[in-house]
Amino acid sequence: MRIGVLTSGGDAPGMNAAVRAVVRTVIARGGEAVGIERGYHGLVDDHVIPLSLHSVSGIIDQGGTILKTARCEQFKTPEGQAAAAATIARNGIEGIAIVGGDGSYRGALALNKTCGAHVIGLPGTIDNDIPGTLYTIGFDTAVNTALEAIDRIRDTSESHDRVFVVEVMGRADGSIAMEVALAGGAEAVITPERRVEMVELCRRIQAWRERGKMSCIVVVAEGAAGGAAVGATITQVTGIETRVSVLGHIQRGGSPTARDRSLATRMGVCAADLLLAGSTNLMVGVDEGGATVTHPLEEILQQEHKLDASLFDVLEVTAT
Ligand code: ADP
Ligand code: F6P
Repeated sequence: MRIGVLTSGGDAPGMNAAVRAVVRTVIARGGEAVGIERGYHGLVDDHVIPLSLHSVSGIIDQGGTILKTARCEQFKTPEGQAAAAATIARNGIEGIAIVGGDGSYRGALALNKTCGAHVIGLPGTIDNDIPGTLYTIGFDTAVNTALEAIDRIRDTSESHDRVFVVEVMGRADGSIAMEVALAGGAEAVITPERRVEMVELCRRIQAWRERGKMSCIVVVAEGAAGGAAVGATITQVTGIETRVSVLGHIQRGGSPTARDRSLATRMGVCAADLLLAGSTNLMVGVDEGGATVTHPLEEILQQEHKLDASLFDVLEVTAT
């Protein structure tokens, strides 16, 4: 059986570990593995490469993705999908493991509908915005990278008695912001799920100052508000010197943490076994107990990832 693997959407640390696990499992079970380059572009343009046990050695600790990734508009068209179907037939590919986010799953289902190729999704995105899994591949590394930056920023905030607004990634989900805020001891968090009343936040910052607490870090998810606007409002209302730091793409790269490597490895083995068993249209996730679980891709696309609302209270009660 010939099984393909591709990475799609934004890169995430741990994608390589997932690719390695898929390839090694397929070969260990007697199948053949191929890599599809640059996400769905590789299917549209027929960029398919053979992958051996050796091709995936030494990549478990590497950030990015050896297969490269892309956002491919052409694949959203019927012509693009027909070209992808032709590539699949030409290369004798029976199933594909697709590491990416919800957009990539929409593509996976479109592909299955067009040509019947079996597709299994693995959640690969730093945003942790996919329902049906406690964690996505790359989230833990991104959080730890942002946390390291926040710990450094805290030094300057303390030394200068400044307020810092730190903007982290998270297109439509505050998971990174919340996790980083909790772990970094931030004073406040602003996420798409719950924005804060700026007047109230400024009142709290001033009250902390009056009590002698001079350092303050406000973590903002990019999808909730621009860090620059939040910083400008704080300065305007409180008169306190405020600096804004946008962490940006440093959160996407770097060597994956142990958690991301192990998560990606377990998910990769599960995805390959599902494909080899003839399953399709499923996503692999992990549950609260750490076990791998599967959900229909259709269901995943109908649900919304929910940030645990009780965490806002945990942050508020500890940020005094
Ligand atoms: P992510 O997978 O991280 O959510 P995107 O939303 O950018 O990232 O989606 C990745 C790719 O999946 C897109 O560039 C496109 O090639 C494909 N894709 C997204 N939505 C669809 C769709 N509705 N139909 C077909 N392909 C899609
Ligand atoms: O989905 C991952 C992510 O890093 C988001 O947090 C962010 O909004 C987006 O991708 C940035 O995308 P790009 O790298 O295309 O600018």
